[in-house]
Parts: sequence; structure tokens; C-alpha cells
Amino acid sequence: MREEIEELKKAVEASPENVYLRMLLVRKMRPIDEYLSEAEQHLETVMQLEKGNKEAREMLVEIFFRQQKNSAAIVLGEDLLEQFEISPATKLILSRAYLAEQDMEKARDLYQEVLMINPSMTDEALDHAFRLGSAQDYPDEGDYLLEKPKITFKDVGGLEEIKREIDLKIIKPLEHADLYAAYGKKVGGGILLYGPPGCGKTYLARATAGEINAGFINVTLNDILDMWVGNSEKQLNAVFEEARDNAPCVLFFDEIDALGAKRSDLRQSAGKNVINQFLSELDGVEASNEGVLVIGATNVPWHLDPAFRRPGRFDRIIFVPPPDLENRIEILKLKLEEKPVSKIDYRKLAKATPHYSGADLEAIIDIAIESVLESAMQTGTPEPLTTDLLQKAIAKHRSTTIDWFTTAKNYATFANQSGQYDAIADYIKKHKDI
Ligand SMILES: Nc1ncnc2c1ncn2[C@@H]1O[C@H](COP(=O)(O)OP(=O)(O)O)[C@@H](O)[C@H]1O
Ligand SMILES: [Mg+2]
Repeated sequence: MREEIEELKKAVEASPENVYLRMLLVRKMRPIDEYLSEAEQHLETVMQLEKGNKEAREMLVEIFFRQQKNSAAIVLGEDLLEQFEISPATKLILSRAYLAEQDMEKARDLYQEVLMINPSMTDEALDHAFRLGSAQDYPDEGDYLLEKPKITFKDVGGLEEIKREIDLKIIKPLEHADLYAAYGKKVGGGILLYGPPGCGKTYLARATAGEINAGFINVTLNDILDMWVGNSEKQLNAVFEEARDNAPCVLFFDEIDALGAKRSDLRQSAGKNVINQFLSELDGVEASNEGVLVIGATNVPWHLDPAFRRPGRFDRIIFVPPPDLENRIEILKLKLEEKPVSKIDYRKLAKATPHYSGADLEAIIDIAIESVLESAMQTGTPEPLTTDLLQKAIAKHRSTTIDWFTTAKNYATFANQSGQYDAIADYIKKHKDI
């Protein structure tokens, strides 16, 4: 082989414009690691001679990747993707490069695409990262991360009415199960939280578990649907089982809208079965859900499947609005509690942040802290956070709920026949500046 390579090298030197010959050389070099950087140079020459040479470019993606030049592989691969239908093998390499660069979403999307084209093109590293792939390595129970949250309701600013509702609807029935049974009142069903991002849906669900010292399992539905192509039903069953085994437990489903969403053909064909599986798990058909509190959340309630609204399922569907003035004061106080601050005018800050979510307020504090750290690094003396610094941070971060309301407003105005968007409509009516 080496002799052959040396011969070909001479031939290429003799006729440097001959692309065919150079590609022949590269193909010989490609399997051997020590020739990779040489192969890379030849491929670059080929690309200069023949801009549209797809084979050369695809090979170069691989050769970059094998030399751990991941960002080069990604730049070239993305460029290829835009222009050509590239081979699944190159797609697989590109998703490995994404994985190496921790760009998980792109890695997963592309890997999924590869598996759809050719289910046997599995890759160990990608399977491991996404727990996807061959039917043998389903996770057993215990693979879903069971948390024991430390936060409780008092860590959540505002949302008092919703806390009361959760208390009444899911905490009390759990604590007084026999009393409920004595009156023949059925326990179960779930609560569904919806609203703009960053306003505390996940945080509140976690705090619910903390409040009653229960376990907490956080499942992002899109992950189940994406990672377990064709096996989502089994996965749904596994998470419910995990929650039942660890009762009392709050089982939190984020992006619950994903069940009804039809974002790809793949999802469409899985759709009905997955929804049915979910509903029968929720209804406790498969096994008793005693001690399992199901909370769902979505930022896009307009994509919800109507089947979820039926009694005994998510029969409480609650709007989680952005914090009002008093709540913003409370949240700012909560988040600044353990930080070095000097006399903060909380009301002033709250007034300057209409419609800002809890997450937005957290972001502002982060920005202010960064600026303090920066000057502390120069002067060597750490300064406390001030109202002024926080105001400057506010100027740099705009509210992220506004875009959400722009969309929500359309639904509340034009698609509210059955009143399911009344809460949003009310909020908009009370806030003329949205
Ligand atoms: N009402 C609130 N009280 C305290 N912190 C909040 C509140 N709302 C949001 N946050 C903060 O913002 C972060 C993001 O909120 P999250 O619950 O993930 O939003 P959502 O699930 O509604 O998109 C939380 O981790 C929390 O620190
Ligand atoms: Mg969330």
C-alpha cells in the first residue's frame, strides 16, 4: 500500500493538474491515519482545481473530523449541506463533529435524519449521547433523573393563586388520600401550566415537589419523541413507571404540546399512538398513579391536543403570567438575597421592568454582576450591586415575553370561540401597552 502511495505521489507531482490521479492518491491515503494531513492538502488542491467536486469536499469533512478539526469539518459540511444532497455517511460524520463541539441539537437532528434514511447506520458515540438507537439498549427504570428539589413555594415569587390551586388540586389530595376516598372523590389528573417562557412554570413544578418533599422527574417531551424514534410509547411508559416506583413524585412534562404537534412526517405517523399511550398512562389505565402528581407545561397552548382538556386529565389549565409590579419586587429580592448589594430601590427597578419574566430579572442581575466583576478585576476591590448598575443592566436586556404576547394576542382575538384563551385576553386587556 505504501509503495503504491509513493508511486502515485510521484505521478501526481508529474501531472499536478490531473484531478483523477490526485483523487486516486487520496483514496489510498484516506484509511491510513498518518497520511491524513497530506490527504487534506491534496483535497484542498482538488477543490481549487474543481470547485464543485463534491466527493473531494465530502472526504475533506471526514478528514478534518478525524484530525479533530471539528469546526473546520462543520463549516465545510454546512456549506455542502446547503448546496448538495450529501451522503448519509458524511451527515453522520457531521453530526459527530457537532457532538464534539457540544452542539447537541444539530447533532441530534442530523443523526436522526441519517437513521431515517438508513436505520442500520448507528454510531456508538451518538447513541450514547442521545440514548438512541438499537432496541436492546432501552433505558431501564432508573434512567430518568430523579431529583429531590430543595426549593419550595416560598422561593417562587408571586403566583399565589396558582400555588393555592396546586395545593388544593394535587397536594391536599395526596396528603389526605383516605379522606378523599371516604367521600368517593376521585384523585388524579394533572395540572397544565401555560404562558410565556421564563415565568416560572418549571420552577413552580419543582417547588411543588420540594413543598411536599417528593421526588421530581423532569421530562422534556420533545426529547422523548426525538431520541426514541418509533419507540416513544415505550419511553412514556418507562417514565410513568419510574414516577410510580418513586411515589410521592411530581412528574413534570415540559413541552407537552409536542404530543399534539406535527412538525415532521415522522412525528405525524407516531402522533396518535403516542397521544393514546400518554392519555392511558395519565388515566391510570396501565397502573395506579397513586402518589404521582402530573404537571405539564407549554409555551404554545395553541398546539395542545384537545383530548388533554377532558375531565380527569389536565382538567386544570392555568395561565402563568409575567410577574406584576409587586411580584417583580419580590423576585428581585429573592434573587438578590445572598448577593452583595447596597441599598437597592426595588420599586424603582420593578417599575422599569414591565412584562419582564422572572428569567429576565435573573438575566439582568447576571449582567450587573458581570459589570461589577469586570471593574473589580481592574481595581482589585469588589463593589456591591447598586440600583444604578441594575438599571444599566435593564437597558441592555429587553423583556422576552413581549414576542410571546404578540402571537398569543392573535389566538386570544381570533381563535377564542370556546374561551380557552380568556386568561390571556384578560391579561392583555389589563395591560394596554402589550
Ligand atoms: N416567579 C418566579 N419566582 C422566582 N424565580 C423565578 C420566577 N419565575 C421565573 N424565575 C426564575 O427564572 C428561571 C426560569 O424559569 P422557568 O420556571 O424555567 O420558566 P418557564 O418554565 O416558565 O419557561 C427559573 O429558574 C427561576 O430562577
Ligand atoms: Mg420551563
